[in-house]
Amino acid sequence: MKKQKTKFVCTSCSYESLRWLGKCPECSTWNSMQEEVVEENKTHKKSAVLKSPSVYTFSDISAHETERHKTGLEEFDRVLGGGLVPGSVVLIGGDPGIGKSTLVLQSAAGIGAKVLYISGEESLKQIKLRADRLKISSSNISLASETELNTILHSVTAESPAVLIVDSIQTTYNAALENAPGTVTQIRECTAVLLDDAKRKGYAVLLIGHVTKDGYIAGPKLLEHVVDTVIQFEPETGGNYRILRAIKNRFGSTNEIGIFEMTGAGLREISNPSEIFLSDKIGEVSGSVVTAAVEGTRPILIEVQALVTPSNFGNPQRISTGFDQKRLSILLAVLERRAGVRVSSHNVFLKIAGGVTIEEPAVDLAVCCAVWSSIVDKAVPSGILLLGEVGLGGEIRGINHQDKRIAEAEKMGYTKILLPEKNARIANSSAQLFPVESLSEVVQFLQNS
Ligand code: TYD
Ligand code: MG
Repeated sequence: MKKQKTKFVCTSCSYESLRWLGKCPECSTWNSMQEEVVEENKTHKKSAVLKSPSVYTFSDISAHETERHKTGLEEFDRVLGGGLVPGSVVLIGGDPGIGKSTLVLQSAAGIGAKVLYISGEESLKQIKLRADRLKISSSNISLASETELNTILHSVTAESPAVLIVDSIQTTYNAALENAPGTVTQIRECTAVLLDDAKRKGYAVLLIGHVTKDGYIAGPKLLEHVVDTVIQFEPETGGNYRILRAIKNRFGSTNEIGIFEMTGAGLREISNPSEIFLSDKIGEVSGSVVTAAVEGTRPILIEVQALVTPSNFGNPQRISTGFDQKRLSILLAVLERRAGVRVSSHNVFLKIAGGVTIEEPAVDLAVCCAVWSSIVDKAVPSGILLLGEVGLGGEIRGINHQDKRIAEAEKMGYTKILLPEKNARIANSSAQLFPVESLSEVVQFLQNS
């Protein structure tokens, strides 16, 4: 019998080597080389006939935004950039049990067109049980339990759906290849074939992928650059909340997030996230301040919490979650030098409540005030919202999206808004706006309120 030739492929970046290596020389991942059979290249041997492609100008091609398929889940549609684009492949990644299958089933029910749901992970009975639990009985969904790629493509031809759901890419395999399902070669080949078929026939594909132990969907460079959109489904600390985040999107912004809660009856959309990020104790405990951040196009009120304790050792600790540590150090220095708040001999612990990460500078002022509030042990009264970037000179600098932030604050019942002078000049609001120019001025204001 002819001996099978094998090679070693990195599961993280698909680097290939003839012998086993402990560490991938390409992406430096340890223990990622997997043995695979060398394929005889059956699938790619298309005749190399020289043929020029058909070319068009923009005016020849008609494309409308309205062609997108809405899933009916607003949170999901927004992350997608307004719905599923025909001919595109969307990869949804996440840990096992996070709710990927639930998400796609609920979306399938909301799509007003034919959906073909192929599951390689669950039997038809299991899907039916889930659908019953979610109270889904839409007749636009056809189901099949299948893992072989060519069989899947046959059913696509027979059913001609507008959307194809494949759960999951790791269980799908091409029988023409000798490698086992879930190997780098199989995952890459199957995705490429599906992508090609989807683009030619114009149906959208929702592809579910499992996340590797490092949090990547089948290796960081393996699939992410092949598909059109990569969406990550992540847990949110505390509660049953789930965040949907676009890592890559050819048809929309990657700044948008979608928030869901996993309930007994499936995923529930959280269309007013400010509610879940704020506690009832604001205004009662010191070190807690509310600000308005903008995630993508949506404003969210968030609570910044600080705890300052005296340090008995030489080097005080500065620890932050959800906020950049270096930025915190800079703000502490500004607070000490420009507003006279002594923090150099204190440990500072800072936390953005709810497990979100905020990178924008507009929350600087809230961070400084949370630290001040904790150090003097004076609660910032409820109803006060702080906005502004803090400069090294202790000046409060202007911010973007002021109207969105102010509108959200008003909606949530905030009546006093401290904001940069520049923004206050052009903002209109029914809330009381307090223009501020320096950090010391803000500290003074809070002291007296
Ligand atoms: P599932 O969609 O199967 O996750 P994935 O496909 O990402 O592996 O969801 C599994 C979890 O969700 C499971 O722990 C049960 C829970 N769940 C609910 O809490 N409520 C529901 O209505 C459903 C369908 C699932
Ligand atoms: Mg699943």
